[in-house]
Amino acid sequence: MGLDLLKGKRGIIFGALNDKSIAWKIAERAYEEGARFTLTNTLVACRMGEVVELSERCEAKLIPADATSVADLENVFRESMEALGGKIDFVLHSIGMSLNVRKGRKYEDLDYGFLNKTLDISAISFHKVLQVGYKMDAISEWGSVVALSYIAAQRTFYGYNDMADAKSLLESIARSFGYIYGRERNVRINTVSQSPTMTTAGSGVKGMGGLLDFANRMSPLGNANADECADYCLTLFSDFTRKVTMQNLFHDGGFSNVGISEHAMEQYNIGLEFVGESAVE
Ligand SMILES: NC(=O)c1ccc[n+]([C@@H]2O[C@H](COP(=O)([O-])OP(=O)(O)OC[C@H]3O[C@@H](n4cnc5c(N)ncnc54)[C@H](O)[C@@H]3O)[C@@H](O)[C@H]2O)c1
Repeated sequence: MGLDLLKGKRGIIFGALNDKSIAWKIAERAYEEGARFTLTNTLVACRMGEVVELSERCEAKLIPADATSVADLENVFRESMEALGGKIDFVLHSIGMSLNVRKGRKYEDLDYGFLNKTLDISAISFHKVLQVGYKMDAISEWGSVVALSYIAAQRTFYGYNDMADAKSLLESIARSFGYIYGRERNVRINTVSQSPTMTTAGSGVKGMGGLLDFANRMSPLGNANADECADYCLTLFSDFTRKVTMQNLFHDGGFSNVGISEHAMEQYNIGLEFVGESAVE
């Protein structure tokens, strides 16, 4: 049951692929909270059919777009404003992809063509969304833009590969553009750094099962799931967070501030018994 938190607001949601996607959960919750929005994803993703079902259920126009194409993004903003009848109040950027991860290229053996694609799709597309929105003056005053990030932007996580570099850039873009968009138009821009979550993109990360368990043991509140991430993002789209901008906001059950937890240590000690001896006196 919604609280009308987003009643009257118009949005654009990038990145809903299937019912595991974080963007999918955000779309469902935004609809419940009274928002109207368009959905956009690559042509291939739109043709896969699942997003069509979501768009029908949420009464949301589906607009195919490659988020690395400025022309496609201009079309997304144009068609969204037409369909929704005015400027956009909130934008969700929920996009990530690494061909190096997909093709099993290690960080010390990156394909640089793939790296360029990773950065373009997963980070520079965020700048493109913001720049297109800014130039078209398509985002309302006190509008809110959120992109999803991961703590590998700050600290090294085995297996996250070149996506770590993309997330660092993504968070930097939120700060750099957040300053300009805030100063000129009172638009806020933040990134939400989410717990590991079992989605299509998430399951591509090497050792995802172990990572989920580790993060869960380390986090005093446990991992945040996609539904909880949706609730958090809605608060950032709502009028209750109008002065929050240029932040990377951890939504991770406390993981980011824990060095070692009792639960993780218990599991680690079992592992030590199994290995047989400790190298540390
Ligand atoms: N799953 C996790 O563990 C986790 C944790 C923290 C942050 N995130 C971030 O959350 C966001 C959403 O990922 P998800 O986990 O929901 O997975 P997902 O696979 O459901 O979503 C990724 C989306 O990116 C879209 N995409 C890829 N290339 C694109 C392009 N060129 N143009 C437009 N869209 C494109 C895909 O079609 C897909 O919808 C990503 O930024 C991801 O890095 C995920």
